[in-house]
Amino acid sequence: MGSNGRRVRDAGWYRSLLHPGKVYRDSEVYRSVVRHPKPDTPRGRAMTSFQNFFLHIYPVKVPREIIRTRTTFRLGFIAAVLYGILFISGTYLMFFYRPTVPDAYFDMHTLSTSVAFGQFVRNVHRWSAHLMVVIVILHLLRVFYSGAYRPPRQFNWVIGVVLLVLTLLMSFTGYLLPWDQLAYWAITVGTGGTEVGSAALLRFYVLHIYFIPALITVILSIHIWRVRKDGFAVSDRRSEPETEPVKEVADAEA
Ligand code: HEM
Repeated sequence: MGSNGRRVRDAGWYRSLLHPGKVYRDSEVYRSVVRHPKPDTPRGRAMTSFQNFFLHIYPVKVPREIIRTRTTFRLGFIAAVLYGILFISGTYLMFFYRPTVPDAYFDMHTLSTSVAFGQFVRNVHRWSAHLMVVIVILHLLRVFYSGAYRPPRQFNWVIGVVLLVLTLLMSFTGYLLPWDQLAYWAITVGTGGTEVGSAALLRFYVLHIYFIPALITVILSIHIWRVRKDGFAVSDRRSEPETEPVKEVADAEA
């Protein structure tokens, strides 16, 4: 190709016509958003994990036994996903609910009968809440029976207990909000109070939609950050020697 041809090939308009993707990926705006090289080499993959906000919570390399289902049964992960579903479905419900004695019950009624997807979202919210309590308890049992609470993970165990208490509190405070007979009498018995009125309804609402979720969001972030820093308990076992000499046998042989 002569110098004329080279000039045409190097021209911006010609390149953008033939390789629109490449021109876009080379642009300053794209490079300011995506800073890592292509993840097609070990270095590219490592850089992708370090630079990406969502991926950086994962280690770059993961031992095979950690991703086996039976290691964790994905229970912590499932609990976190349920929390996400509760957050989104709860936000939808908030658009149609007023936490006052004359309105609460009728708002829930209107939501179930006249709002698009109202009954569906309400059911998703309620069932996810029940399921989250069960899954968090199963997650605790999994951690306990696999000995994952042992050093250096005692701190994360304590954080986990706080998360369990907060999950139960979410369930408890949410129970009152429909303001029907079941809600009213369950909370009257549960709180040991003689009168559950508008003040209780408002306080339970604020706790349910703001205070406890804010605490869970912060504490859950610390929980997952600690899992990342401590590594999974199962990976400790890999670094332990296969067999250890039993002291008595070693003494007897001496
Ligand atoms: C809102 C509730 C909770 C959420 C969303 C949650 C989330 C997670 C996630 C995503 C993991 C990574 C491993 C896995 O998926 O199983 C994990 C690990 C862990 N969790 Fe939880 N968790 C919660 C409650 C608890 C409770 C109640 C305890 C115990 C009292 C606990 C103690 C631990 C410990 C010690 C680990 C590390 C396990 C290991 O290294 O094998 N967590 N959690």
